[in-house]
Amino acid sequence: MSIIVNEAAGTFHLRGKRISYLMTVLKNGQLGQLYFGKRIHHREDFSYLLEYAARPMASCVFEEDKAFSMEHLKQEYAVYGTSDYRSPAAEVLQENGSRVSQFCFRGYRIMKGKPKLEGLPAVYTESLEEAETLIVELEDQVTGLRLELYYTIFEEEGILTRSARFINQGGKPLHLTRAMSLCLDLPDSEYDWIQFSGSWARERYPRARRLEEGIQSVGSMRGHSSHEHNPFVILKRPDAHEFQGEAIGFSLVYSGNFLAQAEVDTRGTVRMLLGIHPDWFDWKLEPGESFQTPEAVIVYTDRGLNALSQSFHRLYQRRLARGYWRDRPRPVLINNWEATYMDFTEEKILRIAEKARELGVELFVLDDGWFGGRNTEHAGLGDWVPNRNKLPGGIRGLSEKIEGLGMKFGLWFEPEMVNRDSDLYREHPDWILRTPDRPSCHGRFQYVLDFSRKEVVDHVYRMMEKILSDARISYIKWDMNRSITECYSAALPPDRQGEVFHRYILGVYDLYERLTSRFPEVLFESCASGGGRFDPGMLYYAPQAWTSDDTDAVERLKIQYGSSYCYPVSSMGSHVSAVPNHQLGRTTPLYTRANVAFFGTFGYELDLGRLSPKEQEEIKAQTAFMKKYRELLQFGTFYRLSSPFERNEAAWMTVSRDRRTAIVGWYRILNRVNASFSRLKLAGLDPDLEYEINGRRFYGDELMYLGLVTSDGSAGEMPEGPGGSCDFDSRLYLLKA
Ligand code: GLA
Repeated sequence: MSIIVNEAAGTFHLRGKRISYLMTVLKNGQLGQLYFGKRIHHREDFSYLLEYAARPMASCVFEEDKAFSMEHLKQEYAVYGTSDYRSPAAEVLQENGSRVSQFCFRGYRIMKGKPKLEGLPAVYTESLEEAETLIVELEDQVTGLRLELYYTIFEEEGILTRSARFINQGGKPLHLTRAMSLCLDLPDSEYDWIQFSGSWARERYPRARRLEEGIQSVGSMRGHSSHEHNPFVILKRPDAHEFQGEAIGFSLVYSGNFLAQAEVDTRGTVRMLLGIHPDWFDWKLEPGESFQTPEAVIVYTDRGLNALSQSFHRLYQRRLARGYWRDRPRPVLINNWEATYMDFTEEKILRIAEKARELGVELFVLDDGWFGGRNTEHAGLGDWVPNRNKLPGGIRGLSEKIEGLGMKFGLWFEPEMVNRDSDLYREHPDWILRTPDRPSCHGRFQYVLDFSRKEVVDHVYRMMEKILSDARISYIKWDMNRSITECYSAALPPDRQGEVFHRYILGVYDLYERLTSRFPEVLFESCASGGGRFDPGMLYYAPQAWTSDDTDAVERLKIQYGSSYCYPVSSMGSHVSAVPNHQLGRTTPLYTRANVAFFGTFGYELDLGRLSPKEQEEIKAQTAFMKKYRELLQFGTFYRLSSPFERNEAAWMTVSRDRRTAIVGWYRILNRVNASFSRLKLAGLDPDLEYEINGRRFYGDELMYLGLVTSDGSAGEMPEGPGGSCDFDSRLYLLKA
């Protein structure tokens, strides 16, 4: 049993095989945090962990106790205004204008497994034994607002999930102006903070710095999780690295505005907060109504960052992603976007598809430009009806022809958007998010549909459902290409406008839920101008996401390396594209483009017919290789070995579950003349097994402890080029026990 309760002491010990999480009811009824970290023994009395001190200038709760101040206590879900001055987890605006509240312990429930979160993506269990859930019930007596804190502990891994649910059991309406998913007070601040930041075409670069007194945070106010900052941060001990040391990962299963924050007080404690961004958030709760926060996932490890990432990978691959494609290797696809942009005819498409089929590609994806009046960015979004000038037989006709070639067919949508020049906008100009009497900003000439309104979501569902049931569609790319501005819904009263950002995302989730249940075998790939909504919320509905619009292999090394801290290889959409690269103008070898894209879902985004016969032969070998090894590449245990952010030579590898097969990707960014010899220490192998690499044999311990010699230039049977004599060189090493 994972959850041990000492009712007399009011103490809860969540204890899995790897972690312990301890909390207790404080003497004022609020919940205090005692410990989170590596598993420890249980004892009846943990009261020694409650540290008090009478400090000058402290505001105290009880006249008779100068030591009891919330400011100096570690708490579970803090509020501001009753002697704690740090950023709170929750804030409740009441009818009388007060924002003071106090949530006191009322009771608890324990259940096996994990409950679903209504309308929200969340991690799940498949058997009741995998996890156990504690629900602590608290109440603010004055308002009658009830608060339930959900904690699910996974038995085998160092994983804990958290969320909060508010229920207005009082007689008056209330406004929740802050409702974080997680608040965690840690006793010391000896950590490096790592965030994953960037911008369009360079998403999720790890950025590390020492935690300092004061507040450090990342977040998004763009209406989506964003290219700029990912809803994922790590706190790691300064001496921790990829293969050793303590680290805690904090991930939010949410796709909208978020805040991840660490506040270090001047006595060296840290308060972590993670949840919906409180700016512009204001959720009205009428009596009887409730509000469920998104879920936060925390992973603890004392075995380094690779182990931390691997826990996230396993969890998000097997207990967040769902459905038919969850455990299945993904089809090798070709997408026409960089080959044609919107300028195509059916004939052109079929020619590209035919060549791709000949070279081993399995799925053809038709990107933007197939619908309404969509010939430029200015028109057509919102009109999900095929453009018969380009496609005389419609989507059904084209999909049948593609299937006739022996390939599957996939289609691009951008369901949340509309151009002014569209029938949808002409019919329903009030269906976009916009503030009354003020001009609306556009992004790429498009406007955001008000997905907080059910009739809007219903309409988009009907249009998409029609196309999907009419044609032979096996894959959907769901794009979202602008951030929200002038966030206001014509359908909500003034005192509910603070709900629009969150209601919008709930509408997106609702549409995803309806489409994925109606078409359970369709593979969904999410996208937001590349990786602008690459988050766990999306992974619940779409098991893969277009990682970035940047398809340059060297840039992708960094983007996929950074993304791998939280997200599994099976979630990263990755394509081989043309050179010179369309984003950067860089020319990289074809084998390097593939060697990077193999560590992802793998596909092509160029007109293969324009390649030389020799290159086409190379593509054939690549698709054959991917089909043979995709299970291992996409679902193996992934290790980062050498960072492209730090070194000229980057490397990563994946190992099969039985540790008998592995593939190492090695990449050298710039060539060097008269270079040093180099060895790459591998990981995750069986030290006592002998592995064959290109006809030579090495023990696992040699490969892991003294390293694989990478300076010899030989790579054997793998699909690749000359090696050893150019910039942007790379090699794959296949290891077989
Ligand atoms: C976004 C996507 C691209 C492509 C275009 C189409 O930028 O990220 O892959 O689909 O939209 O307009």
